[in-house]
Amino acid sequence: MSIPSAYSFTRYLTAKKSVDDRALNRYVWQSLSAALPRSTAEQPLHILEIGAGLGAMVERLVAGGLLSHATYTAIDMEPTLIAEARRRLPQWAAEQGWQVRQSGQEQIHIQRPGQDIGITTEAIDVAHFIARERGQRTCDLLIAQAFLDLVDVPTTLPALLSLLRPGGLFYCPITFDGGTVLQPEIEPALDAAIEACYHQTMDRRLVDGKPSGDSRTGRHLFTHLQAAGAEVLAAGSSDWVVFTGANGYPADEAYFLHFIIHTMHTALSGHPDLDPGRFADWIAQRHAQVEQGTLMYIAHQLDLLGRVPAPLVATRE
Ligand SMILES: C[S@@+](CC[C@H](N)C(=O)[O-])C[C@H]1O[C@@H](n2cnc3c(N)ncnc32)[C@H](O)[C@@H]1O
Repeated sequence: MSIPSAYSFTRYLTAKKSVDDRALNRYVWQSLSAALPRSTAEQPLHILEIGAGLGAMVERLVAGGLLSHATYTAIDMEPTLIAEARRRLPQWAAEQGWQVRQSGQEQIHIQRPGQDIGITTEAIDVAHFIARERGQRTCDLLIAQAFLDLVDVPTTLPALLSLLRPGGLFYCPITFDGGTVLQPEIEPALDAAIEACYHQTMDRRLVDGKPSGDSRTGRHLFTHLQAAGAEVLAAGSSDWVVFTGANGYPADEAYFLHFIIHTMHTALSGHPDLDPGRFADWIAQRHAQVEQGTLMYIAHQLDLLGRVPAPLVATRE
């Protein structure tokens, strides 16, 4: 492909799916599968996913056979992504042999013998969602994929966990954890400076004047979860590793790489510690490496599965 002249976040999220599929930690995934309570038509699982993007995780959980009877609420602050999820999910489910019913724009119902899943999508900021739902404590599983590194975890996490029923589970895969590796090296000192400045932009990110991000969210989650009284049941790395094979980059992963380089370019433009000319050359060389199929990219990330405390069972004297 040629270097894109414009970038689409929807195409990036679509391209990210095959990268995530390889990266997701199998041990944490199997632990999630084992920890999910049995669901029935009378007692479906209630799942909430925040920052759900195009709904890739709904597809993954359904395709992986982890859901039989469930209600799945997928929210994201971006209306364009939610609109695209509403367009794609029914089509995907029908292709997989599910019977699909839609009631209104927000509700998708998919059924197969012995399986029944209601999916609700909503374009809403997580802070507004929490304010509206606070205290409900009905959720069996909370999912936040590639999301917690974008928010202020110390304030957001306790509010999110308060949406879970006692004993409820949370699953936070693809949480960034402070490693951006691009090979081959261009100029080792400059490569290292750019990586450090890039991570610094995550650490200093403000949204509406409030801190929103941490380049080492993955490792810090353990302490934040402990402080929130939650238990980590399983954890493991889920690094993105993107490289060319005999047939070039798989799927749309060349675009994925161009998007990552473009994101670094946008985040670091005008950074006082980087010489503008050398930085512009570095970005151009990285895009060229994608074109030549020589760029290899690793992002270090962690998957965590955990549980909030269950009520104490009264013991008989
Ligand atoms: C890196 S993307 C991950 C999307 C999806 N979870 C995936 O892995 O494909 C992060 C998503 O979080 C959403 N997001 C960011 N801040 C949010 C907020 N405050 N409330 C709701 N969604 C938010 C973005 O719109 C984006 O779709």
